[in-house]
Amino acid sequence: MTDQRPPRGFFGRRHGHRLRAGRQALIDDLLPGLAVDVNPAVSLDPATLFPPEAFRPIVHPPEAFRPEVWLEIGFGGGEHLAALAQANPDVGFIGCERFINGIASLLSHIQAADIGNIRIADADAQDLLNALTPASIDRLFLLFPDPWPKTRHHKRRFVNQGNLDNMARVLTDGAQVRFASDHSEYCDWTLERFLDHKDFTWVAEHPDDWRVRPDDWPQTRYEATALAKALDISYFTFQRVVRAITAR
Ligand SMILES: C[S@@+](CC[C@H](N)C(=O)[O-])C[C@H]1O[C@@H](n2cnc3c(N)ncnc32)[C@H](O)[C@@H]1O
Repeated sequence: MTDQRPPRGFFGRRHGHRLRAGRQALIDDLLPGLAVDVNPAVSLDPATLFPPEAFRPIVHPPEAFRPEVWLEIGFGGGEHLAALAQANPDVGFIGCERFINGIASLLSHIQAADIGNIRIADADAQDLLNALTPASIDRLFLLFPDPWPKTRHHKRRFVNQGNLDNMARVLTDGAQVRFASDHSEYCDWTLERFLDHKDFTWVAEHPDDWRVRPDDWPQTRYEATALAKALDISYFTFQRVVRAITAR
């Protein structure tokens, strides 16, 4: 059985090459004000991370204010997240990533474009999902996750029953999950698990719905590399089904 809850921990790299002084300064000076404190034992309502001042321009009257919150797991260099945050200035974004060089890269985008609506969780995404309150995330992105191709490593794959259960718990009714990969076997694995899950449906009617990246879906760094190698990429959009109303 390979599809059980994965062992605890993060399996990727924490550090790449030594950070240049400017990037290190972003980690030291800019990150603390944007960092999300993740403790799986303490519940986190993500909307509280985004006061009206986080948005440029401020788009809602403060008294009625509860923004949508979108989450990207494993944002890599942060290109997709930064582009989405600028295209959706009234949405709050949480990026979750453990690779310090990737976090520094996202911070450089935030600084260069003066982006106010991104918060950063330097945490294992499993811990973040455990901390988030139910029905608090309006869209979730998992783009080019590590495919862990060796059979003995399949249990490390982020798409697994436990994480899908937890995603379903934190997503709002009708929320989208966007997944992309150039690893055909991981695509099959992912499709199978989402289709088997009672809380998700696959939003696709035509092959172009998963062969062609939608216009509002910015490119990621891994995607650019895959395209340069002429690899096939699948773009899946799943939807969290509407919760049944239970009689009291
Ligand atoms: C293959 S890279 C893809 C990066 C980016 N999404 C892209 O398409 O360019 C996968 C990223 O997910 C991050 N990652 C993997 N497991 C994670 C976890 N449990 N929590 C947070 N980030 C994770 C890794 O650090 C890595 O940066």
